[in-house]
Amino acid sequence: MKYIELSSTPVSVIGAGTMRIARFTDQEADEFVSTALDAGINFFDHADIYGGGKSEEVFGKLLTAKPELREKMFLQSKCGIRQGYFDFSKEYILSAVDGILTRLHTDHIDSLLLHRPDALMEPEEVAAAFDELEASGKVLHFGVSNQNRWQMELLKSCIKQELWADQMQMSIAHTPMLDAGFNVNMGDDPAIMRDGGTLEYCRLNKMAVQTWSPLQVGYFTGTFLDNEKYPELNELLAQLACDYSVGKDTIAYAWLLRYPAKMQVITGTSKPSRLIDAARAADIELTKEQWYAIYRAAGNRLP
Ligand SMILES: NC(=O)c1ccc[n+]([C@@H]2O[C@H](COP(=O)([O-])OP(=O)(O)OC[C@H]3O[C@@H](n4cnc5c(N)ncnc54)[C@H](OP(=O)(O)O)[C@@H]3O)[C@@H](O)[C@H]2O)c1
Repeated sequence: MKYIELSSTPVSVIGAGTMRIARFTDQEADEFVSTALDAGINFFDHADIYGGGKSEEVFGKLLTAKPELREKMFLQSKCGIRQGYFDFSKEYILSAVDGILTRLHTDHIDSLLLHRPDALMEPEEVAAAFDELEASGKVLHFGVSNQNRWQMELLKSCIKQELWADQMQMSIAHTPMLDAGFNVNMGDDPAIMRDGGTLEYCRLNKMAVQTWSPLQVGYFTGTFLDNEKYPELNELLAQLACDYSVGKDTIAYAWLLRYPAKMQVITGTSKPSRLIDAARAADIELTKEQWYAIYRAAGNRLP
């Protein structure tokens, strides 16, 4: 496993996402978490809305039974999504974090991300909320999710804390953040800049890029693995998987980690054995040629 150092706290480059664990039994939760930790994955990604709070509850129940696990973990959660709208008001952020801490059964989280940009955000309010959360020790680090460069700049004009991460959707079959960079000033669709240069912004500011839905096509329409719409990609992934003696999923995660920012992959699997596959990706460094070949095999063209 490889780790990103965050104020001397190591955070694994593979993070175990918890969006799909709401129905876990106690035993399944235990197996999921212990397999992750044994594989070197210390980073767990939550959000207050996953399973309507159930995902955090299941996890918190495990921490109640085994409090010794807490110090081995880097716990992240997100807030800001409400029923039909987004809310970055001070009052809401503070109450959301209290809910997160109660459900996770912990006195602090290591990282809080603002989940989806709130157009009506007043950055001064976020700053006041962050100050209070930092002063009380309830949140150690702050970041964002699904934000572009200017949204982060706006926030940074008021907050004192550094933004350490931006969590963005990215997979081999979802690459708008890369496409626009390859097609600068071209007249076709891939040239459309949809994110304002987030990857480059994160590199310049030494921020982590956390990739969500690392195996999905589009917005939750299923994985590209063994998907008949991606024959060339699956053939190439199978060949590389064979060369590296791993599974196709491991190569898909290694492809994300190969981008030269502080990359992290947030997995979505609920299967412990697949967490072990994901952990192996940290030990694989694809060549430039392999990385580009995978990009092209997904149906992308280079100008
Ligand atoms: N910030 C945001 O806005 C945002 C949005 C969405 C998600 N997230 C975070 O990102 C995490 C990952 O998202 P995601 O769940 O969409 O990720 P994903 O890994 O792309 O998709 C997970 C799905 O793929 C399946 N899968 C995983 N490995 C597989 C394999 N080797 N072969 C076939 N199917 C496989 C899983 O089934 P099995 O369970 O059976 O393995 C699951 O149904 C979430 O848990 C959450 O923490 C963040």
